[in-house]
Amino acid sequence: MASIEAALWCVVPAAGRGTRVGGDKPKQYHPIAGKPMLLHTLERLASHPCIAGLIVTLAAGDTHWSALHELGGKPVLTTNGGDERSDSVLAGLRALRDHVRDSDFVLVHDAARPCVRADDISRLIAQGIPAGAALLAAPVRDTLKRADDTNHAIATEPREARWRALTPQLFRYAELIAALESAHLARVAVTDEAMAMERAGHKPLLVEGSEDNIKVTTPADIALAEFLLSRMQ
Ligand code: C5P
Repeated sequence: MASIEAALWCVVPAAGRGTRVGGDKPKQYHPIAGKPMLLHTLERLASHPCIAGLIVTLAAGDTHWSALHELGGKPVLTTNGGDERSDSVLAGLRALRDHVRDSDFVLVHDAARPCVRADDISRLIAQGIPAGAALLAAPVRDTLKRADDTNHAIATEPREARWRALTPQLFRYAELIAALESAHLARVAVTDEAMAMERAGHKPLLVEGSEDNIKVTTPADIALAEFLLSRMQ
């Protein structure tokens, strides 16, 4: 792939309180191979040559964050997140106001995806900048069932043209803020940034990413993430 030149800030929402992975801490602090999940994620992002800096959104009163101000020579800023993931992302974007121009691209990447690959980030940036908006995603490969409220299959959904949205996602700074603010005002719960952008009339490019860019959610995912990270090192 041709080399890409970019210096992008990345917002890392890490204000979730998810405890389904077990333990007494939110999942982003759960250890993977002896190191908090969040640190794995931040190190992978900071080591990418196109990433200029990171802003991490933390839950108010977070006592697990260990004051970290730079990684690999890149600034690591923090701000408080909000009740929903989209509130946290919006808070992170607003805190970047002095660091980026309206037309600059920014990335958003979940703290809970520590196995993101550098070449996926590179492809996202290389294809996403000319497209104007983009996200990593994976085509749905399983047959999809619609369930009734007792978990009996009542229909089979088409899987053609269906993708699972991953992160990072890449958008222009001011466009993403406007899209998230509009969704917020309309009280529409958006589960990723691309959903807010679609609502605002954009058509983000789906850039096929690796299936192993998993979102760690359950105890089994911790073991899988440990295995995947050990293979990547
Ligand atoms: O809960 P879920 O796995 O969907 O969260 C995705 C990411 O969003 C996680 O990194 C989590 O910490 C973050 N998040 C957040 N603020 C919230 C809820 C989730 O930053 N209010």
